[in-house]
Amino acid sequence: MRHAVATTDDTATAAASSHTELGPTGRPLREFPTPEPLNGHGPARIIALCNQKGGVGKTTTTISMGAALAAYGRRVLCIDFDPQGALSAGLGVNTHDDLTIYDLLLASKTDPREAIQHTAVENLDVIPANIDLSAAEVHLVNEVAREQILARVLRHLTGDYDVILIDCQPSLGLLTVNALTASHGVLIPLECEFFALRGVALLIETIEKVKDRLNPALELDGILATMFDSRTLHSREVLERVVDAFGDDVLETVIGRTVKFPDASVAGMPITEFAPEHNAAKAYRQLARELVARGAVA
Ligand SMILES: Nc1ncnc2c1ncn2[C@@H]1O[C@H](COP(=O)(O)OP(=O)(O)O)[C@@H](O)[C@H]1O
Ligand SMILES: [Mg+2]
Repeated sequence: MRHAVATTDDTATAAASSHTELGPTGRPLREFPTPEPLNGHGPARIIALCNQKGGVGKTTTTISMGAALAAYGRRVLCIDFDPQGALSAGLGVNTHDDLTIYDLLLASKTDPREAIQHTAVENLDVIPANIDLSAAEVHLVNEVAREQILARVLRHLTGDYDVILIDCQPSLGLLTVNALTASHGVLIPLECEFFALRGVALLIETIEKVKDRLNPALELDGILATMFDSRTLHSREVLERVVDAFGDDVLETVIGRTVKFPDASVAGMPITEFAPEHNAAKAYRQLARELVARGAVA
């Protein structure tokens, strides 16, 4: 009897899958449900966006996913943790006369809430950075518990937010180790380009070391394929290799390549506000829903 039921189910599944459209990662395409409204806020889950390769979409993802989660009623704080300050610029906030993350790392007496700036997007706040941050590694290297300084700063802020996103700089140095030590999860954006996988082993090794020595609770929240161009065989092959290597850690949502992103950055706006109906905005809303569905965000 059991066997007969199983056979029926298998047949049904096979029949269903032969009609299901497969997404770019080779899994059936599906919509993730719209997140339920939250009754209250906090404590925040902290997610580091990390890849020591530059130009893979860390900052763009922090801004766009942050704005999408904010639109779903999540209270979001983005931390600019790159001295280039691209996150701050992309959200249209000032980085010159105001407190930055650097000030908070160096002066433990400053209340971190004083460094928060509101953006034009409701529920989306930011702590900015500027070039000062490039001196932080040198200053922090002789501190006691130098890997835990950001974690200590963020501890004062988790109660007010549902999610805190840390936009890391392209390196695996002390600042990135601080970000990984402060986080519950890490999200790795990977550009669908030939050298995408180069360096990822080292990144995973760094994450494992931090988990082992400093932050046992750290989880890999997912690998996000970015700048995917479905028209090129090359992009599709790279994505296939990424899925072969990382399986279900690869998020189902894939971000396509489009010039709308640079346009949005120039305007100092998230893509979800700049061109809400563009496929790129839809993709980041889908990513936000996928992370909620996976439990990475409340
Ligand atoms: N999906 C995309 N398609 C096209 N260009 C993109 C995409 N995502 C980001 N970009 C652009 O690529 C450049 C690098 O992206 P960015 O998010 O700053 O990467 P990172 O923070 O990893 O250095 C920026 O000019 C950005 O506007
Ligand atoms: Mg960046």
